[in-house]
Amino acid sequence: MSPLPKNLATDFYSDPTAPHLVRLEQGDTGLLVWFAGQTAPVLFSWFWLRDHGLDESSIDPVTLQRRTDTFSIAPDIRGQLTNFDQQQQLISLLWPDGQQTSLSAYLLASNCGLAPARHELAPDKPQILWDNAAPLTDLPAAQHAAVMQNDSELLNWLEQIFQYGFSVLEGVPSTEQATTELAQRVGRIQETLFGTMWPLSSELTEHGDTAYSTSYLAPHTDGTYYQDAAGLQMFNCLRFDGDGGENILVDGYALAEQLRSADPEAFQALSEINVPSHYIERGVHMRAERPAFRLDGNGDVIQVSFNNYDRAPMRLVADQADRFHRAYRVLHDATLDESNWVKIGLRPGQTLIFDNWRLLHGRMGYVGERVFYGCYHSRAEFESRLRVLRASIQKDARPDD
Ligand SMILES: [Fe+2]
Repeated sequence: MSPLPKNLATDFYSDPTAPHLVRLEQGDTGLLVWFAGQTAPVLFSWFWLRDHGLDESSIDPVTLQRRTDTFSIAPDIRGQLTNFDQQQQLISLLWPDGQQTSLSAYLLASNCGLAPARHELAPDKPQILWDNAAPLTDLPAAQHAAVMQNDSELLNWLEQIFQYGFSVLEGVPSTEQATTELAQRVGRIQETLFGTMWPLSSELTEHGDTAYSTSYLAPHTDGTYYQDAAGLQMFNCLRFDGDGGENILVDGYALAEQLRSADPEAFQALSEINVPSHYIERGVHMRAERPAFRLDGNGDVIQVSFNNYDRAPMRLVADQADRFHRAYRVLHDATLDESNWVKIGLRPGQTLIFDNWRLLHGRMGYVGERVFYGCYHSRAEFESRLRVLRASIQKDARPDD
């Protein structure tokens, strides 16, 4: 059989650094595959293999959208291995209807955890949770000029934000234009009811939100009333002439993990009970609800939502109400425990960026003048940038491409 033609799909699902396929054996229910360095084989069902071809009959070579009609595949389908190209690390299969399909070793390896999958955000840089049990010794930081000029530096910076939940960028010009250019470097800006790029200062009266004041703001997440709350939030400090006003950051993932082990009942209540939030001003009525800890299918916390200022009326039956309010108070107390905080007195030249799905943020009260200019990015945009930059930088580093 002819080798798989070079196209975007096969390119996307190839990685010469992934473990090589060394042996294949056909079984009744599927194909047993042995990867280099593994003693036990991995079984891929015939159905899965039929559904995951990378050839042009199975997948669009440009968009990578599936062409295979999954629903026309017999659940008990059985295929036949017709070729294994050791050099290209590609296998070819023949099906009862005469169709031939091809799959890459990397697709198999990444689907059984033997190689990082393309969608993983920073597979070699795990998230580092911080709180009073594991305080940060240094603030994550990067240099503006390097981030603006070099894609590797941009990737390092975005990965730092992924790892720690925030970073302080140094050397940023204190202008609206420089802030916008930096925001665009991160990705498409998320427009909200506050606009696209927005100034933040107590002089502004356009929105009545507590953020537009000089008073202390307890740690919270933004956009609890948005169905798609912002993923990243950034502020460039344009002017500061006064006292106080330090930004407060709290690692919500770390607090969730504290509760998961120390108070599992509270953790369960906070991950199960939906908390409604709303935002109301002239012409606007936003509302969303989700648990304080939103979990993924593995039970990992993927989004923390906590903003008592914006909480909408909720009526729970008696025992649920007790359960919720006890847990909510435990979380609240942890967010106010200053030993869990990082405080940053942002000055002109510095931009703070943080993960609004992970960190809570607040602000000490201040006197004087303080002008920030900032924006949001959606979580989807942040993740997309991480994946695209990593793929392009890894590809540039490969000698054989
Ligand atoms: Fe906020």
